[in-house]
Amino acid sequence: MTAQVIDGKELAHKLRVEMAEEVAQLKNNGVTPHLTVIILGDDPASKSYVNGKKKASGQTGISSDIIEMPSSASEQELLEKIDVLNDDDHVHGILVQLPLPDHINEQHVIEAISPDKDVDGFHPISIGKMMTGDDAFVPCTPFGILTMLHSYGIQIEGNHAVVIGRSNIVGKPVGQLLLNEHATVTYCHSRTKNMTDFTREADILVVAIGKPNVIRAEHIKEGSVIIDVGINRMEDGKLTGDVDFTSASEKASYITPVPKGVGPMTITMLLQNTIKAAKGLSGIGR
Ligand code: GUN
Repeated sequence: MTAQVIDGKELAHKLRVEMAEEVAQLKNNGVTPHLTVIILGDDPASKSYVNGKKKASGQTGISSDIIEMPSSASEQELLEKIDVLNDDDHVHGILVQLPLPDHINEQHVIEAISPDKDVDGFHPISIGKMMTGDDAFVPCTPFGILTMLHSYGIQIEGNHAVVIGRSNIVGKPVGQLLLNEHATVTYCHSRTKNMTDFTREADILVVAIGKPNVIRAEHIKEGSVIIDVGINRMEDGKLTGDVDFTSASEKASYITPVPKGVGPMTITMLLQNTIKAAKGLSGIGR
């Protein structure tokens, strides 16, 4: 079998065109969705992600700004900044770029963001609502993965989904979303024994390990759907996923490439969440 490639770049583009129309309509109703991103320090990867978010917002008609704070900023200063943004009616979405410097408690920061403006979907209220299947802001990468599966008509209900990775940002929420849609879900992680016993049984395999090319054809089931969340920069400067695309694509039915797979969908879902926040806060679409 040769897998069909799930083209995240093309899907992201299509969705952003649709969102741009929705944003234009919101503007006609006097609401300009606005996203504020806070970044501490000058880590090049974080800066590049944040700039990508600003650029994509602008292309969709969403206004945005970036607040740059020094890595020496105190937790109190950051929490005070978030308070100001929580009270600012022009700001619909607040995102604090992670990771934060070690002297700042990430959970305090996440919990300081108003749940109405939690476009990352990391607030405990958002997570709780997601678990109970209520309407919620859903973390962007998992939301992007589910949107890809839906868009390609991939069966979730009744299928066995195996998630490798249990981070709060990707692994845990993507498993929960798959469960909400009636998949049978198994989580694997660094302490899992005989992981291949699970991966070979997966109808849908979501791989978020963070190491290049570790999942190969011999680890997967014939005809399975492979979602590769990894973004690894190789010595030659090229990006590669956690899955060995060449061998896995000969056995899978669908596979996401790296780059142009899950990555472009993540920012797209952030835009979607910002529009949702703007509609919720302005009372449109309730
Ligand atoms: N750092 C890496 N991914 C993310 C994300 O989705 N949101 C935030 N806030 N920081 C990140």
